Amino acid sequence: MKRVDDFRLRFGKREIVPIMIGGMGVDISTAELALEAARLGGIGHISDAMLPTVSDRLYDTGFVKEKLQQYKFNIDNSDKSAVKFDLGHIAESTRLHVSKTMEAKRGEGMVFINCMEKLTMNAPRETLTVRLRSAMDAGIDGITLAAGLHLGSFAMIEDHPRFRDVKLGIIVSSLRALQLFLRKNARTNRLPDFVVVEGPLAGGHLGFGMEDWMKYDLRTITNEVLQYMRDEKLDIPVIPAGGIFTGSDAVSYLEEGSAAVQVATRFTVADECGLPKDVQQEYFKASEDDIEVNGISPTGYPMRMLKASPAIGSGIRPGCESYGYILDSNGRCSYIDSYNREVAAHPGEKKIQVFDKTCLCTHMRNFKLWTCGHYTYKLKDTSNKLADGSYQVLSAEHIFRDYQFSTDNQVALPEKA
Ligand SMILES: Cc1cc2nc3c(=O)[nH]c(=O)nc-3n(C[C@H](O)[C@H](O)[C@H](O)COP(=O)(O)O)c2cc1C
Repeated sequence: MKRVDDFRLRFGKREIVPIMIGGMGVDISTAELALEAARLGGIGHISDAMLPTVSDRLYDTGFVKEKLQQYKFNIDNSDKSAVKFDLGHIAESTRLHVSKTMEAKRGEGMVFINCMEKLTMNAPRETLTVRLRSAMDAGIDGITLAAGLHLGSFAMIEDHPRFRDVKLGIIVSSLRALQLFLRKNARTNRLPDFVVVEGPLAGGHLGFGMEDWMKYDLRTITNEVLQYMRDEKLDIPVIPAGGIFTGSDAVSYLEEGSAAVQVATRFTVADECGLPKDVQQEYFKASEDDIEVNGISPTGYPMRMLKASPAIGSGIRPGCESYGYILDSNGRCSYIDSYNREVAAHPGEKKIQVFDKTCLCTHMRNFKLWTCGHYTYKLKDTSNKLADGSYQVLSAEHIFRDYQFSTDNQVALPEKA
């Protein structure tokens, strides 16, 4: 019986353990988690979501305070078009996070950064260009283009000296999206180095419609993409993601021609993961009924999360003067409209509730939106229940090696704490 360790992901001459820990914003997939994956010979991701605020927390910078100072005058204004990011701050925070992570890297694996196009930041082109180029400047091994079609992203970096050396990949949820990406980026004469195929059971935002996500399945989409690669004689590693919970699940994809797997949910309960310890216990305890896919993300993509997430129903004032990562090119975010509607409907009330949308920036930053994969309800079976009723947090190494070496759909429990 095969194990994940019997396979390798090949990038030129490099051989990588075919386990990639997916990006989890905002700093849920920490540098520590990504570095463990690299040390163990696989691939880890940091995320570039909201790096100015992450940098303030990790490296003692003052980017958010400065932005708020500059735009404080606009807080009561529902027109946020004036609230712009300082491109220098974005560059500096990206450089700090990436360079500090890369300096600490050990082992044979790699560290990539997850870049979501949907973080439009009130100036989509300018801000994404700076994010991508600064990560390359600071020595990142690879970039995973996420949450969007990225039809113009290669062009933003094609004149960068590292354009052909950094590993560049894209996350798609359909063959059509991949074909569109390849067609639009063909002009740069550079194919992606890998393609992540993300199915509907993943955590975070889903690349499917709110009404029809349940009609799709990862195996079918992955096989369509693999067939396309064979038909077109394209030698691009295909990496399925979403609901791959055991080493055996992973092997079944590797045996069918996938080059690696991308996984995330099992690492949400790792010690190195950025979620606060009390939130990790919510993930452990969750049952299937405690999880839903809803439309509260102002990005317009459905998102899977724990129903107990404090972000659901929260009616806080939009935090765009501090954050503003979802503002589109006209300075709009659908949460602002929902918030204003509820304020108008409840005159004089101090505390209002908003259910149809959420202030994604503030709540993701504060770990109040508990996004998770479909199989979160199985996490309790991956650890020991302690005398006080809580679950034992795992090491990333334990989880990684379990994916790498387990067989027979087994999940190895950690040694009792
Ligand atoms: C807590 C959490 C946060 C996530 N955040 C992001 C993100 O910021 N960007 C992204 O492209 N994918 C994100 N994802 C998706 C993962 O990177 C990954 O592709 C997917 O969850 C894999 O499926 P699994 O969780 O069932 O293993 C997130 C997943 C989780 C569980």
